[in-house]
Amino acid sequence: MGYTAGMSRLSERLRPFGTNIFTRITALANQHKAVNLSQGFPDFDGPEFIKDAASEAMRVHHNQYAPMAGVPELRRAIAERFTRRTGLACNADTDVTVTCGCTEAIPATVMGMCNPGDEVILFEPFFDIHRSAIVLAGCVPVAVTLRPPAAAPGEQTDRPWTFDEAALRAAFTGKTKAIVINTPHNPTGKVFSRQELGLIAELCIKHDVVAICDDVYERLIFEDDMPHVALATLPGMAERTVTLSSMGKAFSYTGWKIGWAVAPAELTACVRAAHQFLTFSVATPLQYGTVAGLQREEEAVGPLVAMLRANRDLLAPVLRELGMTVYFPPSGYFIMTDISGMNRGDDVAFVQKLIEEVGVAAIPCSAFYTVPERGRTQVRFAFCKKPETVVAGIERLRAGLGRR
Ligand SMILES: Cc1ncc(COP(=O)(O)O)c(C=O)c1O
Repeated sequence: MGYTAGMSRLSERLRPFGTNIFTRITALANQHKAVNLSQGFPDFDGPEFIKDAASEAMRVHHNQYAPMAGVPELRRAIAERFTRRTGLACNADTDVTVTCGCTEAIPATVMGMCNPGDEVILFEPFFDIHRSAIVLAGCVPVAVTLRPPAAAPGEQTDRPWTFDEAALRAAFTGKTKAIVINTPHNPTGKVFSRQELGLIAELCIKHDVVAICDDVYERLIFEDDMPHVALATLPGMAERTVTLSSMGKAFSYTGWKIGWAVAPAELTACVRAAHQFLTFSVATPLQYGTVAGLQREEEAVGPLVAMLRANRDLLAPVLRELGMTVYFPPSGYFIMTDISGMNRGDDVAFVQKLIEEVGVAAIPCSAFYTVPERGRTQVRFAFCKKPETVVAGIERLRAGLGRR
């Protein structure tokens, strides 16, 4: 699964990254016709009415460049949703930017606000684009490690991943410009508690730091006692928080890449300053499709959450039965596991064999750490698939890894 052959012209800036893990694993999974429980995309379409709205937009000639900040109808829908969810005021003209997925919103925000050499804090394991966005902006990523709850090999735990308060305090220095928070969190499913966010808020205010919140999984929570708390709602945070989200996960259209950044006008101006030169604007008809989705959001999200919860409940006990430690997730698309009790090599070797010999793809998590060694025993399984895909994966896992 190596890379870089034939890439001698690759810029120094990009050399540390290689080809991203999702591209590599998906290619290997396709090659071996593996059941793909690796990358976080559904193998089904979202609601038809969203597709219909995009088709209709195409039919009635919404096919040219959209305004740089997004079509007004979508900005209004995003602003109203933000106010509905947070109770905070949001001006559709000055506080919302539509981006090419949350994926573009991350570098647009970092580039828009940070100078080369600035430090940006993030939690690891991280969604890989968080770190690359920081590095590509010439900034220095400072990682605070989330620790898994204690559990024996082959045990399942629903206790949360945690971070060390002292480590977070120490991560804030005179050079810190921003912190990236992802809640609910990929890959662990952690939903940051109000208390944890309170500490982050205290430190952001004390050190005059901007919070960049990646909330793409905000609607995909399975436990009633773990609500998503928007960091912007904490006292003193609205004016220093950029809240990012997108429609891909909530509506099962990850390929549409319609995301957004919500922030007070002064911060939004910075995001737009970068966005105008990254993509300028985003697929016009798909923005209209997203308006339809946001207008009927509950109708779309309810059945999806029920299906994801059922998939999680189906897959988790099987992973445990096969000898993995299972960190039972309260949210999201993924189950994080620890394979150290299985004697099958590190995460990369394990996944390679899983794809080639068992016919199931997962993600080796060392790619999600600044120091890969920290994730060498962790493997992530996606359950955002049709129930029959999860069942097919389970059958292969049992056949290939079951204790005989
Ligand atoms: C934490 C996180 N942020 C952002 C994204 C990408 O969002 P989008 O598809 O809207 O670009 C993902 C996709 O997996 C993710 O897991």
